[in-house]
Amino acid sequence: IGRRSYSVSSAFDFNSALFPLSSSGPGYTALGAPSTTHSDPSAQSLEKNKRLTYLNGLSLVVGLIIGSGIFSSPASVNSNAGSPGAALIVWLIAGLLAWTGAASYAELGGAIPLNGGAQVYLSKIFGEWAGFLFTWCAVTVLKPGSAAIVAIIFGEYMVRAPQSLRVADPMNPHPDLSPWINKSVAIAGLVAITLLNCASTKMGVRSADFFMFFKFVGLLAITITGIVVAVTGWSVNADGLSTAWKDTDWFGGTSTSGSQWAVALYAGLWAYDGWDNTNYVVGEMINPARDLPRTIHTSLPIVITGYLLANLSYIFVLPTSVINASNTVAVAFGHTVFGPLGSLFLALTVSGSCFGTLNATTFTAGRLVYSAGKEGYVPSIFATIGLGQGSPPMRLPRRGSKAKRMERWFADEHGFFHTPIFAMVLNAAITCIYIVIGDFTTLTTFYGVASYLFYFAAVVGLIVLRVKEPELERPYKCWIVTPVVFCCVSLFLLSRAIFAKPLQAVVVFAFIAAGLPLYWWQVGRRRRRNNGKRVLVEGDGWKFWKRWTRP
Ligand code: ARG
Repeated sequence: IGRRSYSVSSAFDFNSALFPLSSSGPGYTALGAPSTTHSDPSAQSLEKNKRLTYLNGLSLVVGLIIGSGIFSSPASVNSNAGSPGAALIVWLIAGLLAWTGAASYAELGGAIPLNGGAQVYLSKIFGEWAGFLFTWCAVTVLKPGSAAIVAIIFGEYMVRAPQSLRVADPMNPHPDLSPWINKSVAIAGLVAITLLNCASTKMGVRSADFFMFFKFVGLLAITITGIVVAVTGWSVNADGLSTAWKDTDWFGGTSTSGSQWAVALYAGLWAYDGWDNTNYVVGEMINPARDLPRTIHTSLPIVITGYLLANLSYIFVLPTSVINASNTVAVAFGHTVFGPLGSLFLALTVSGSCFGTLNATTFTAGRLVYSAGKEGYVPSIFATIGLGQGSPPMRLPRRGSKAKRMERWFADEHGFFHTPIFAMVLNAAITCIYIVIGDFTTLTTFYGVASYLFYFAAVVGLIVLRVKEPELERPYKCWIVTPVVFCCVSLFLLSRAIFAKPLQAVVVFAFIAAGLPLYWWQVGRRRRRNNGKRVLVEGDGWKFWKRWTRP
């Protein structure tokens, strides 16, 4: 029996999404014309566009994973786990769970080496409807929801930064401060990031690299300080807070409630979230069979070690009561050790880290929405590059050599504004709604349930695929225990969430199910019109705009 393998073509054409206008990319066709199908010339162009190396993958996934969580979730983890020792165990379990998930995804990514992550796997394994449901949730909830959480934390730390110089007690800065200040800063940050990413693809990528720096500085600073405190036995006493960590009762008060552990795990998992992001760009990796598993088996140990060390440092320096109560634990940490300047430094570092994650999320979200538009999952206007076909060419005014140099540095071969602007604006708009109406805890819970539902489905899909297509070529095959463990733990998490908050769970499920009629209506209609063929469309926002503004 000949071995089967999926051809290098994509249901979710991330290749053309990422390099939409590159001459080598799969060309677009007008609405209704036959286009990229499942065994077509795009294979060639995909090959041409393969440019991601192992290190690119590593920096992408580490940059996305380390964001807000490690600086903000400890309160939630600690207070629910009940004791510092239990909290560390939760951090470890969450990390291992993310690792098993990522390893399973590595197998899927090797077997189906296409861009798009869960969207492609679900489509191939369970049918297009499953991929559609994922896309539907990702576009409306998962991407903007996670962006909103990161933005809110960005806002919180930004607001705290100037205060930390004036306020004596950073644990309790201006309790009467309106949350709207945070939210406005969050929205301002989001708008800035969106504009940046709309302006140029290269600019988005370059700034992502730049902000990576903050994550490492922040984590390193915290870890080194913690180690110094631990080794020298230096205990800091501020306002009568005793940080004699040697007296820490590591397991006293450990929670025995399953649902509390589940809540703690969800909070920890948020900090590890983003491990699936290399799978979105598998199609662009030069050697996915080798590099995807390598990326995953190095990035996750790095992150797990970093997180455990950072948490140990928090425990060494801060009293448990402070860790449990503060959702800006890093600022409290900086203030305790270095005073106001320390908290200013850490507040700025954390906001830089969040800004970087926000940037990366905006970047991928734009591509996701764009591709959904091309597939006909959302109105085709969101599959527009720039302003559309007939729009006047948009380039930044070039005055002087400095502007020119900047343009060369940032803009791709097509100049500025050759990005999925409409898609990114849609994503930003939905994110703004979440920032305005949401609060951190609700958003993380909602996000946790919905995203783990899809991770679970994809990993179950891995097992199904092994049964259904044992002959399929799998360059990387994970130990079968890995997906089974992942499925069991995520099932436990999901069931706990459902029992703890049935109403919220019903809302999540109803929301996902609402995608089904949409699928039949949107995709089915297009399919019927095109004799059952899958057709990619190109949006034209400019035409749309002209039609609306014609006198
Ligand atoms: N783990 C990140 C953090 O700690 C969250 C990443 C969210 N983004 C995403 N695409 N899942 O903030």
